[in-house]
Amino acid sequence: MELTLTTPDDWHLHLRDDEVLPLTVNHAANRFARAIIMPNLSLPIATTELALAYRDRILAALEPGRRFSPLMTLYLTDRTTPEELYRAADSGAVFACKLYPAGATTNSEAGITDPERLDAVFETMTQAGLALLVHGEVTDPEVDVFDREAVFIERTLQPIVERHPKLKIVLEHVTTRHGVDFVRAAGPRVGGTLTAHHLLYNRNEIFRGGLNPHLYCLPVLKREEHRRALVEAATRGDPSFFLGTDSAPHGKDRKESGCGCAGIYTAHAALELYATAFEQAGSLDRLEAFASHFGPDFYGLPRNTTTTTLVQRDWEIPQGYEYGNSTVVPLEAGKVLRWSVDSTGTAI
Ligand code: NCD
Ligand code: ZN
Repeated sequence: MELTLTTPDDWHLHLRDDEVLPLTVNHAANRFARAIIMPNLSLPIATTELALAYRDRILAALEPGRRFSPLMTLYLTDRTTPEELYRAADSGAVFACKLYPAGATTNSEAGITDPERLDAVFETMTQAGLALLVHGEVTDPEVDVFDREAVFIERTLQPIVERHPKLKIVLEHVTTRHGVDFVRAAGPRVGGTLTAHHLLYNRNEIFRGGLNPHLYCLPVLKREEHRRALVEAATRGDPSFFLGTDSAPHGKDRKESGCGCAGIYTAHAALELYATAFEQAGSLDRLEAFASHFGPDFYGLPRNTTTTTLVQRDWEIPQGYEYGNSTVVPLEAGKVLRWSVDSTGTAI
């Protein structure tokens, strides 16, 4: 069986930098025409100049003959200025700004200490036509790690949505029923991305047969009730929810560690993993809208005019891919997936 779709886009992707770009960029470009590129490098992409230089490095890593458009984002800091935001919008290469609450996740130390003080920045972003992409978790150590999304929505995001009625906002990697309900209630200018791994797994999977660091990400996987709410949001044809992998590679040594990094690598099989989740839900006919239509519609960009074909053909996912001096262990390493698209990468 084959499934041909309008070529999809990934609205939330971590590519990292330098020597790993040939792997991460081509895995993404094998499946997606465009991707929103997350700015949380060790030196955050907080200026247009850095964003444009990063974009050049991404494009230089593309295999010859491949087409892929990186849609750049700026990393908001406590010092982001209106001038910088206008420069970003005028560049034509930057589409959004990412809000990381300081300390919430990987390389978020330079993030925002008090999101509620950013009204002037949000006002400028509204004027400049830049979307606000939010890592929606509180960093308050008193709040249980499984409740951080719900508490962030209530304490921080809902007030921002109310104070900025024209700002386009995406709650990235929605992981709970609360997130789904919030996005749905907020109307069409608020969207939500959904990852393949949050559609496929609940938190039991992290502990199945022993602690699996390769299933640790932020926001962390939640209980089954929430996974079901995400699958329902993805498959019901609601244009507020679209594909964002949050593929976030870390070297094996950084994951299999006494203090392992958060992040799951899914770019090697992203579309195939979504197809698996949609097939399990009996909703393969809804995959194209979720993966290829609702994202560009939300961002006000044209839908892609090319197509991508998923084939039902078993393939075994490699145990790892070369990743700089290390290896990255991809999601479902060593397992067999039923869906495939032609792909690259040096398997080890
Ligand atoms: C991401 C990373 O490693 O950059 N990690 C993750 O677990 N998702 C950061 C992020 O999106 O939170
Ligand atoms: Zn992310």
